Amino acid sequence: MATILNLPPRTDAGLPRVDGPLKVSGTAMYTSDHNLPGMLYAVPVCATIGRGTVTAIDSSRAEEMPGVKAVYTRQNLGKLYRTAPATDISGILDERRPPFEDDTIRYYGQYVAAVVANTFEQAVAAANAVKVTYQSEKPDVREHLETDEKPKVDSQRGDPDNAFQSAAVKVDETYVTPTETHNPIELHASVADWDGQNFTLYETSQAVMNHRDVMAQMLGVPQENVRVISRFLGSGFGGKLWPWTHCMIAASAARNLKRPVKLVLTRDMMFQNVGHRPRTQQRVRLGAAADGKLVSVMHDSLNHTSILDDYSEGCSEATPYTYSTPNLRATSGLVRRNVGTPTSMRGPGAVPGLFALESAIDELAVKLNMDPVKLRLLNEPEKDEGLNLPFSSRHMVECLNVGAEKFGWSQRTPQVGSMRKDGLILGWGVAGCSWIAERMETEASVDLHNDGSARVSCATQDIGTGTYTVLSQIVSQKTGIPHHKIEVVLGDTDLPPGPISGGSWATASVIPAVLEAIEKAQQTLFAIAGQGKDPAFAGKKPDAMAFTNGSVHLKDKSPDSGVRFEEILSANNIRSASGSGKSEGTFGNPNRKYSMHSFGAQFAEVTWQPETARLRVSRVVTVIDAGHIINPKPAQNQIEGAVVMGVGMALFEQTVYDPRFGAPINNNLADYIVTTNADAPQIDVTFLDHPDKVINPLGARGVGEIGLAGIAPAITSAVYHATGVRVRKLPVRIEDLLEPASRA
Ligand code: MOS
Repeated sequence: MATILNLPPRTDAGLPRVDGPLKVSGTAMYTSDHNLPGMLYAVPVCATIGRGTVTAIDSSRAEEMPGVKAVYTRQNLGKLYRTAPATDISGILDERRPPFEDDTIRYYGQYVAAVVANTFEQAVAAANAVKVTYQSEKPDVREHLETDEKPKVDSQRGDPDNAFQSAAVKVDETYVTPTETHNPIELHASVADWDGQNFTLYETSQAVMNHRDVMAQMLGVPQENVRVISRFLGSGFGGKLWPWTHCMIAASAARNLKRPVKLVLTRDMMFQNVGHRPRTQQRVRLGAAADGKLVSVMHDSLNHTSILDDYSEGCSEATPYTYSTPNLRATSGLVRRNVGTPTSMRGPGAVPGLFALESAIDELAVKLNMDPVKLRLLNEPEKDEGLNLPFSSRHMVECLNVGAEKFGWSQRTPQVGSMRKDGLILGWGVAGCSWIAERMETEASVDLHNDGSARVSCATQDIGTGTYTVLSQIVSQKTGIPHHKIEVVLGDTDLPPGPISGGSWATASVIPAVLEAIEKAQQTLFAIAGQGKDPAFAGKKPDAMAFTNGSVHLKDKSPDSGVRFEEILSANNIRSASGSGKSEGTFGNPNRKYSMHSFGAQFAEVTWQPETARLRVSRVVTVIDAGHIINPKPAQNQIEGAVVMGVGMALFEQTVYDPRFGAPINNNLADYIVTTNADAPQIDVTFLDHPDKVINPLGARGVGEIGLAGIAPAITSAVYHATGVRVRKLPVRIEDLLEPASRA
């Protein structure tokens, strides 16, 4: 049956993406589009067991196959080092073991060898002909998580145990989120080139600066000998934040063979070798007084990690500051499984953490017989009680009130199954959401050219989110130069060091640096004018001049009296007036004065048709407080995408490991279900647009991740409202919902 998509009209005619034409015309160069002269193709050989030891690798047949240049194993790949522990946002990778470091297999699909050949097809054929013998053991991929290790206390205040014991109303439930695999359509890829001294690495990277640092450390060469380029990314969702082991295989092979090497992962390798959001199991205990005031919050979370790496999902992230309560404890622990190393996935920590916390709040509202919006308003904190700091800007109450108004929440009748529309049972649910806001140290440079154009550059990335557009917009707004005359250059470690495209921090981080660079470029221009021959400016000090809409003029004269900047440059035979700027970082600052976060409220409607067991998410109203929104168009697009991903988290996504061999068995886009257009609800996005001047002069915090947080618990709360079934283990399965029908 055809589904009518009833998307609302765009709320704003914001600037369209400046890189859009390159993408739709197919001329944007993604990593695997780079084809270098003499390039070879590498294809890894993946372990077909989940745990055990490699006892022999017979590559003799593969080596004799047509076009094969090398078969690499532990014996001959060449020296690779481990990285030193990262102390900053540099030198980070989640799977720290270099490829082929030992003969132990710790997860299914671990690389054990790699074939390099003239063509991709030859490399695939030869990789299939490499014979690997194992001593196999049964892998541990059990879903239930438990550990004897003492959990880490992430946040604590008051006496949560006693306060819970004596609370009038209690919730004590365990919530589970499954392993989720990032599925950007662009596969991870490396194209590595080595000229005898310098590596040029085209990478699918959300963080080229970090990538360079890691690769230099692991290859054992100075940083200046490594250049990392990532011009366009077919998205990453966090899966491309840090390097993975295929990057070192490609770079080593290029160094060994003195030829460029391309390595592109397959979709099934994406499920094994480049991270995933780990499974989480979270016990939440809430204690409240009879009037709904929280007296105790306890949130104890576990997540699985790999055998060698300590990846903590960080489910406690939002717990300490979301609600006011005198007594709280949040803990976290790790449980080892024979799986690849997990990594950040859109909203790491907060997204699964808020599924648990916000589900529990909804359960508390049911027990209190209180409206869940009202319960949240009642427990709204005045400050971050975890850090004991004021919020830089928090408009959670407004998010809830505006969302309730837009959604029509006052029409809700709380009884299960009590609302109907067009013969369907309606379920309505709500959840709050939040996401950290930070800045990373950033440098940027701006050149104003003598042809009236400008260039802005920074070694950050545009991962599909709109960074090219936002930088063009800032330069255009501050200089009056039209967009078609502004060149934005990103994704190259030769540029001034920029932030990761992660944490939703890129925009907030680059703004101060770009603003300062523009100002410095204008100062340079004033100096040129003051030393030039034009009598209007000759001998004048730069601080007597101003820059308005592309023209330089004296501060005490009108902008109309000014001279175009390109004319000043041309008259003095100078190509460019340049400036560079720098932003300070906030991340990890021990002397922070504010708690910085974005907030939001998510309202979801589901329709439930018990006769056919058909559940759909029909409508989502999302109200986001992310500071000032620089360009509502890509920002709205980010939130819409996140909502769609949230429907997937609630209803579809989970990576399933085969208990026999530890393989992710639904390792393809047919069996790993993601939300399609037909599943997408009607989405109504509102931005409150309250500038947060603590984070940067424009007041913009970032929108990449916040939109996913809170969607899943809003949906499961709506499912409860429609069906009476509280699903605490994602994703919601139809089987879960059949229970009451069979009982009835
Ligand atoms: Mo995001 S998970 O920090 O790319």
